[in-house]
Amino acid sequence: MLTSIKTDNISPTKKLGMMYFRVAIVLFGAQLLMGLIAAIQFIYPNFLFEIFDFSVARMVHINALVVWMLYAMIGSVYYMLPDETGEEAVGLGLGKLAFWVLTAAVAVVVLVFIFIQVGPGKESTIWFINEGREYIEAPRWADIGIVVVVLIFYYNVFFTFLKGRKTGIMTVMIANLLALAGLYLAGMFFTDNISMDQYWWWWVIHLWVEATWEVFVGTLAAYALIKIISAKREIVEMWLWIEVLMLFGSGILGLGHHYFWIGTPEYWWEIGALFSSLEPVPLVAMFVHVLYDWGKEQGANGNKPAIMNGPAMAWIVTNAFGNFLGAGIWGFFHTLPQVNIYTHGTQFTAAHGHLAFFGAYATILIGMMYMGVQGAYGVKQMKATFNSKMAIFLITFGVMGMTIALTIAGYEQVLVERAELGGGWDAFFTAQNLPWYVQAQVWRTIMGIVTFIGFVYLVLDLLTIGTKAKSQEV
Ligand code: HEM
Ligand code: HEM
Ligand SMILES: [Fe+2]
Repeated sequence: MLTSIKTDNISPTKKLGMMYFRVAIVLFGAQLLMGLIAAIQFIYPNFLFEIFDFSVARMVHINALVVWMLYAMIGSVYYMLPDETGEEAVGLGLGKLAFWVLTAAVAVVVLVFIFIQVGPGKESTIWFINEGREYIEAPRWADIGIVVVVLIFYYNVFFTFLKGRKTGIMTVMIANLLALAGLYLAGMFFTDNISMDQYWWWWVIHLWVEATWEVFVGTLAAYALIKIISAKREIVEMWLWIEVLMLFGSGILGLGHHYFWIGTPEYWWEIGALFSSLEPVPLVAMFVHVLYDWGKEQGANGNKPAIMNGPAMAWIVTNAFGNFLGAGIWGFFHTLPQVNIYTHGTQFTAAHGHLAFFGAYATILIGMMYMGVQGAYGVKQMKATFNSKMAIFLITFGVMGMTIALTIAGYEQVLVERAELGGGWDAFFTAQNLPWYVQAQVWRTIMGIVTFIGFVYLVLDLLTIGTKAKSQEV
């Protein structure tokens, strides 16, 4: 069905980008369905018990999340590469092969997750079934495959960069991709000591989402603003360099906020508290950047907004708000050790996790998919349709609703389970059975359904908006 998107108008490199986008959107759908199953299991613990366990639904939910985002990121890089460098990708044949190898590996890994739900934890389990590291659970064989595929991708992008125009956006992209890919290695080796294991695992998770991925979306926003509202490259790139400096400045040692309670030395309390508290600052800068450029371009055009891609712009503005709220505000809430000792591992964490991943990443990657569709159909201007509006409204409303519900559940856990009952095993279950918690879980599920309906509109829109825009043009 997704092949019905026409790609005749674009270059081979961009076509490869579109292939990644297609898989990304399918995995996004799978992610949401898994989330719904896990959410229902919160309310009816027997739902699909021993057929499709909560542990598996949750695992596929968050691994599909990470994988679809990586697909959409690679898609975005291939999509913008010819525009930025003025060249087609070097080693395109190899790039295509890597795409199919990766997609086949992802399919096998998911099937194994689904068919082998329980079993012993042996050395062979790590190699063939599951590595047991939240968010990056792929077994070792797939890890090695992923490294090979990423090396091919990096080779393609790097040599295209060397050959072509060297813009500021691409320079940041090249350096950042190296760090992003390199960090994956920190999650690949195994130690028997759980503290040490977690110590390295956080390098991947935290240094991805709070450093390298943030820089990555900074480059996407810069590229997209130039394309959509003709923002001035010098200004956009100046912002980008400032953001990079601040993101790495706070994000790297901000890692300390995950080292409070895992057996690492106590100096991490101060380091984590200080640097992670600074993390919202670059997020404010990114927020101001988008709105500033937008306002400035509107002014420059005699107050006639010249938006070349309505839905993409709407998603990018949502990204500016969502990144600031989900990562900046909801992250800051629980980042001090004095607070985190009460909130650690409650539904509050899940509230932040949802709004941050959605706000900072899902939004802008969906925006890039709209950029892809516009390019694929070769239309100059693409206005938001009814479906575009329903998609962005329902998805954003649904995720906000889930976040609020989970925040309430977390609040109840902090007060009852932690503060009042002292946080023991019994306290955990007592708190989970109280009405605030149960009602919050019901609301989360309802809002999850709203999100899913929004997703259906999104797919419908991505499949049809190109043809509609084309027909309006002639
Ligand atoms: C887009 C950026 C971000 C994303 C995607 C993100 C996502 C997440 C996720 C998914 C978790 C849960 C990890 C787990 O399963 O244990 C988490 C934990 C946490 N995040 Fe973020 N986060 C982001 C930015 C931030 C920022 C900027 C701050 C602070 C200012 C922050 C503070 C925290 C803290 C303190 C925890 C630990 C919660 C606990 O103790 O249970 N995050 N984050
Ligand atoms: C249909 C909508 C969704 C539903 C019903 C849903 C449901 C769930 C459930 C039940 C969990 C397990 C929570 C736990 O173990 O306590 C979970 C975890 C998670 N979901 Fe979702 N989800 C949905 C959409 C999303 C979206 C759109 C994103 C991000 C873009 C996302 C990101 C996450 C993350 C990062 C976690 C791990 C959180 C943590 O460990 O703190 N989910 N989700
Ligand atoms: Fe973090």
